Amino acid sequence: MKYFLDTANIEYIKYAIDYFPIEGITTNPTIIAKENREFVDLIKEIREVIGEALLLHIQVVSNKAEDMAEEGMKIVEKFGKNTCIKIPVTKEGLKAIKILNSKEIKVTATAIFTAQQALMAAKAGATYVAPYVNRIDNLSSDGCSVVGNIVKQFKEYNLKTNVIAASFKNVQQVHSVANLGAHAATVNSELFEKIFAHPFTDASVEQFEEDWKKVYGDKVIKDMI
Ligand code: E4P
Repeated sequence: MKYFLDTANIEYIKYAIDYFPIEGITTNPTIIAKENREFVDLIKEIREVIGEALLLHIQVVSNKAEDMAEEGMKIVEKFGKNTCIKIPVTKEGLKAIKILNSKEIKVTATAIFTAQQALMAAKAGATYVAPYVNRIDNLSSDGCSVVGNIVKQFKEYNLKTNVIAASFKNVQQVHSVANLGAHAATVNSELFEKIFAHPFTDASVEQFEEDWKKVYGDKVIKDMI
């Protein structure tokens, strides 16, 4: 499963790509607006920080298919080919996905709440679909089951579209989509470090340090070789 960071915060992106195995950045209009910066400058800076190799997701804000497609084309022209255009899976969105697919532009169908929406977006040519796990949970439904059903259907129908699970509010949701075979998960900065941290890992490290110091004091291996 690939990890993506769901943020447009430059400082966090710089820090996180240094430490963690991240394969790209996802944004949406809410995430961008939170930074309250000039749009082009912000995205350019994100692209500079992550380089050309990482995948950057930018969502269109137009509502009509042709406008969405035009926006998507301009975004790719400006910020590079390794930019995935996020399109909400509305009727107009599906048409826009078809247009962008015909131009070989990568698209993530977003705001997915059902497996049927994901299937239709995949058939329209989406590269990724982004089911909103926590928002589905908050509708008294089961976001992880929706992810599992999408993964199953894509396998069943031999679709090459990948699932990038999104909208997480707790660690267990991320563990679950990994178990269900999601190809990617995009996680916000608040949650990112919690998904691998474990107090027993820290306690184990402390014990190793204590035992080592009893014999070798403050010496570390790099200075002993
Ligand atoms: C991806 O970028 C999605 O838009 C995002 O994960 C939605 O997350 P939220 O439900 O926390 O707003």
